[in-house]
Formats: sequence, C-alpha cells, structure tokens
Amino acid sequence: MGDIGHSACEQRRIQKKVEELFDIIKFDIISKKYRSYVILDQQSHISFCLHSLESLPKSVSTLNSGEPWLLFWLLHALELLNYQVSDDIKDRTIDFISQCKCKRTGAFCGGPYQIPHLAPTYAAVSALMTLDCDRALEIIDRQGIRNFILSMKRQDVKGAFTMHEHGESDMRSIYCAISVSSILGILDEEIMRDVPEHIAKCQSYEGGIGAEPYGEAHGGYTYCGLASLVLMNRTDVLDLDKLMSWLVNRQMSVEGGFNGRTNKLVDSCYSFWVGACFPLIKEVMNIPTEISLYDPLALQAYVLVACQAVMGLFDKPGSSPDFYHTAYSLGGVSHAENDNGPVQWIFKEGMVALAPNDPLFNVVRDKVTRARRYFEKIPLN
Ligand code: FPP
Ligand code: ZN
Repeated sequence: MGDIGHSACEQRRIQKKVEELFDIIKFDIISKKYRSYVILDQQSHISFCLHSLESLPKSVSTLNSGEPWLLFWLLHALELLNYQVSDDIKDRTIDFISQCKCKRTGAFCGGPYQIPHLAPTYAAVSALMTLDCDRALEIIDRQGIRNFILSMKRQDVKGAFTMHEHGESDMRSIYCAISVSSILGILDEEIMRDVPEHIAKCQSYEGGIGAEPYGEAHGGYTYCGLASLVLMNRTDVLDLDKLMSWLVNRQMSVEGGFNGRTNKLVDSCYSFWVGACFPLIKEVMNIPTEISLYDPLALQAYVLVACQAVMGLFDKPGSSPDFYHTAYSLGGVSHAENDNGPVQWIFKEGMVALAPNDPLFNVVRDKVTRARRYFEKIPLN
C-alpha cells in the first residue's frame, strides 16, 4: 500500500510539472494548439556532445567499464543532429576502441585491460558503424566475434546468452548477440538456435517482453526481444496482438511521453525503446507507415518542452542532462518525425529535421546501409 501511494504521488507530481511547462507556452496536448513554441536547441546539444568527444584521452586515463557506450551515445546523438565529426575525432575514436578490443577473442571490452563482454561489443560496433568509414569497420574481427558470441550461448538455458564468461543473462544479451551478428553478416542457424523460442517464453501476460521468462514486461526488454525476432525473421513466435495492445498503452495521456512499464513514470529514453517498436511492429503486421500507432506530436512536445536542459536532454523534469538520455530521446524524436508518413514536427516554426534512424540497430539509416554493404563484400575468413 505504501508503495502504491508513493508511486501515485510521484506520478501526480511529474504530471503537474509537465502541465505547468506546457502551460507556459499555452500548449494543449489534445488540439496541439500553442501560443509560443520551443525549439530543439540543436547547437547547444551538439556542443554538449562534442565537448566530451573532444576530450577523449590520448591514452588510458580511467578504468570505466562503459567507454564504448559513451562513445556510441555521443557519436549517435551528433549524427541524429546532422553534425559530421572531423577526421581527427574519427581517428581518435577508432584508436580508443581498438584499445578496448580483447586480444584473445577479438570481441570488445568495457575499457582497455577488461574482459570481453557482449554489451560493449554491441556499443563498439555501433559506434564504429556511426563513424561511417571503412577504416572504422576494418578493426572489427568478425570471426573472433562470431566465436565469442557462440561461446556466450548458455548450455543450461536454451536460447539465452550470458553477457560475459559467468556473467548475467537477459534479453539485452540476446539483442547484443543477434544485432551484432546480423550487421556483421554472421547470423546463422548455430547462433540463432533456440533463441526465438526463448524470447517467446519472455512475453508476459501483459503482452510486452520481460528480461527472462516470467519477468515483468518492460520497454527496454520489449525492444530487445522484438528487434531480435525481426532480425531473425521469427516474429511468428509472438502474440503480436497482445504486444500491440501493451505498446499502445505506453504513452502517457497528460505528459505525452512513454513509460517503460505499467504504473511507472514517463521517461524520455523510452521515446526510443518503445517508439522504435512501432515501425517494427507496423512492418511485421503490414500496417501502412502513414498510420500512427501513437501520438508522435505529443511525444515530441514532451521531449522538447519537458526534457531539454540548456545543454543536453534528461529523462523527466527535475533531472540533469546525460549522454544516454540525449541519444535515446533524440532517437525517439527522429522516429516520431520520420516514421509516421510525411515528416511531422510539433512546433512548425522551429522544425529541426533529425537524421532518419534505423529502428533495428539504433544507428542512423545510411550508416547501417554502408556497414551492411561493407560486410557483404568481405568473405568470412
Ligand atoms: C528499469 O529501470 C530498467 C530496466 C528494467 C532495464 C531496461 C532495459 C533496457 C533499457 C534495454 C537495454 C538494452 C541494451 C542493448 C543494453 P528503472 O526501474 O529505473 O526504470 P522504470 O521505472 O522506467 O522501469
Ligand atoms: Zn531513462
């Protein structure tokens, strides 16, 4: 009872805060009428990301385990904002990611001298794809990564992968394994064995997908499960109607943004995790692109009005900006803008055309095309 009371209270507090912000510009979420408008502050968000990218150390200066993630978020946000990074930044990024490559396996680690791990392998490959040049893709050891992914396949739970040796295993490790295999052109029967059936077991009674069988449906895991099944061409294992009903219930009526699970708070990162599920499920269910399964303008309004700091974006009013929310909220806004028929923007006077994003890989679309072509040409040795 205490817990329910607490979350209902928090929910009301956030709703009020967002309503107050909408009221400043006399924005009405139903009619979409407004008196003043806010812009997506492209230049400031670019500076926010660029500043960190430019201070990339020349040699190892920390033992953080999220280095490839940080690089991916910064580079991806810049690409979405249509900023092209310099050759110098590209070279330094490639050099840094090379230092995160495990000499024994060829997979990537969270930082230099660490152990190979599926999550930084996904982040490093995504960051390298984002750099959009052959010299970035050249440092990827496809055969080594294939062997590493196979070695992460669990013997005790069919169709699941551990993140690293003796590590945890959930829907995120499945997505990292399947999406990396797909883009590198190494996704075969051996890697896919039992995976679709395992993901199906993680679809909850609510219709969304959880971390493991009998887990709670969550936007992050639902994206990971659905995208993996689309990549394997096996969405037949899911109850798609139930999944659809769970997805369409994620948008908050007052705030306009998505939450990640039933009775939880709005958060701008679900603009991507949940928002990218819509183009995927539309494709699978043959629903025309121009039909919106959520309100893309209300979602944009939430991110623009309630989640922008002077520099960078955050999850909900009251929070501070960070690179993760900057990348994922911009990714969600890109889908809202580009994946619902003709380009749509909530505040017409301040339209910013974000680069179209690929919903399967969360990398800007033309970079995915380039990487696919690159790996298709090169035989696996
Ligand atoms: C809940 O946090 C967060 C989770 C249960 C994990 C979500 C999973 C992802 C975001 C996918 C990650 C994907 C990869 C590829 C690594 P919370 O309880 O703080 O948030 P909530 O209240 O919004 O549920
Ligand atoms: Zn978040």
